[in-house]
Amino acid sequence: MAATGVNNMENERFLRSVINASPNAVITINEAGEILVFSRAAQAMFGFGEAEVLGKNVSMLMPEPDHSLHDGYIRRYIETGKAQIIGRARPVMARRKNGETFPAVLHVSEFDEGARIFVGFVEDITRQKATERRLEDTQLQLQHAGRIGAMGEIATSIAHELNQPLTAAASMAGAVALTLKKTTFDGKDDALALIDDAVAEIRRASGVIRQMRDFLRNRETERAAHPINRIIEESCLIALIGAETEGVMVTSALDDHAGAVMVDRIQMQQVIVNLIRNAVDAMQETRNKHLTIATAKKDDTVEIRIADTGTGITDEMKKRLFEPFATSKEDGMGIGLSLSKSIVEAHKGEIYAKDNHPAGTVFVVALPAAKDDA
Ligand SMILES: Nc1ncnc2c1ncn2[C@@H]1O[C@H](COP(=O)(O)OP(=O)(O)OP(=O)(O)O)[C@@H](O)[C@H]1O
Ligand SMILES: [Mg+2]
Repeated sequence: MAATGVNNMENERFLRSVINASPNAVITINEAGEILVFSRAAQAMFGFGEAEVLGKNVSMLMPEPDHSLHDGYIRRYIETGKAQIIGRARPVMARRKNGETFPAVLHVSEFDEGARIFVGFVEDITRQKATERRLEDTQLQLQHAGRIGAMGEIATSIAHELNQPLTAAASMAGAVALTLKKTTFDGKDDALALIDDAVAEIRRASGVIRQMRDFLRNRETERAAHPINRIIEESCLIALIGAETEGVMVTSALDDHAGAVMVDRIQMQQVIVNLIRNAVDAMQETRNKHLTIATAKKDDTVEIRIADTGTGITDEMKKRLFEPFATSKEDGMGIGLSLSKSIVEAHKGEIYAKDNHPAGTVFVVALPAAKDDA
């Protein structure tokens, strides 16, 4: 069964079709690093035509430091037989004809056809990287905003809780001073001076608390028109990372005509993320776990609904639902809903809960729709 010339040509054509059909760039080189095959996907990825690269050193497709080091990599491999990269997929930076560099995953195999040939498969992962980075950024911002927001709420509560006793202490000290002034005894002036000092210290403490509260409250908000459905989609991604979502069926019913809202994107994501997390938490113990996320436009209002089939809210909790530190959870802070309410109200919107039928809870957030020219 000696191969005929025709068969050889057919084989080659077949091989070429296979190589060109690969969605990843396929590049083969010889021991000298010279390019022998440069697939169609490679041409699209790197921007070079085949004629521009055949016979050239493959290092032209790499930025520094690999560009200068690549010949050495091949030489070392041939001398020592120690593979650094062959047989493994690894992340690298690659360079296009226009000089642009991009992140890629490179997989190299080797075969021997009389002479050694290396085949590289290159996958452009620019888009994955960008998505990853966007997600990380958003999460970081959200965590940051969340922490600042939560701290602002805590600071407000602490300020409130402490101001009362401090004010009381100051007036009691004042009353003691008045009483003392009516009496005579040794060291009276010293005692009065001490009371003055005590009152001054109390005032200072109140001042520190007030400053802390104001500092934490004044995060600059940046409002712009954002499509509500996009905010919801981003929030879902974030909310469902790391949440105990096993067995939870998520239905999204986003109205294509829901339109945009004028909001601080991060803050609004915080609201949605907390509502989704709460819904998922409420379904931990229930058999039926169905989360529905919907948007709808009603006149000048955009409505967001997060419905769950969870335990529902106890009557006790209903009374304090939006108060800071109201929580029924072991590891809960009870900050989520109070923060959400201040954010929604700052946007001239409304947030409320109602019972879902037959079981569970629906949270509704209603926001003014952005004007068309916004
Ligand atoms: N979808 C829901 N179903 C049932 N109960 C809920 C739901 N959402 C909120 N709750 C109740 O309201 C309480 C307050 O919610 P909130 O988000 O303010 O705080 P949290 O979730 O307990 O803590 P965190 O500060 O981490 O958000 C919860 O502890 C829970 O008892
Ligand atoms: Mg919560």
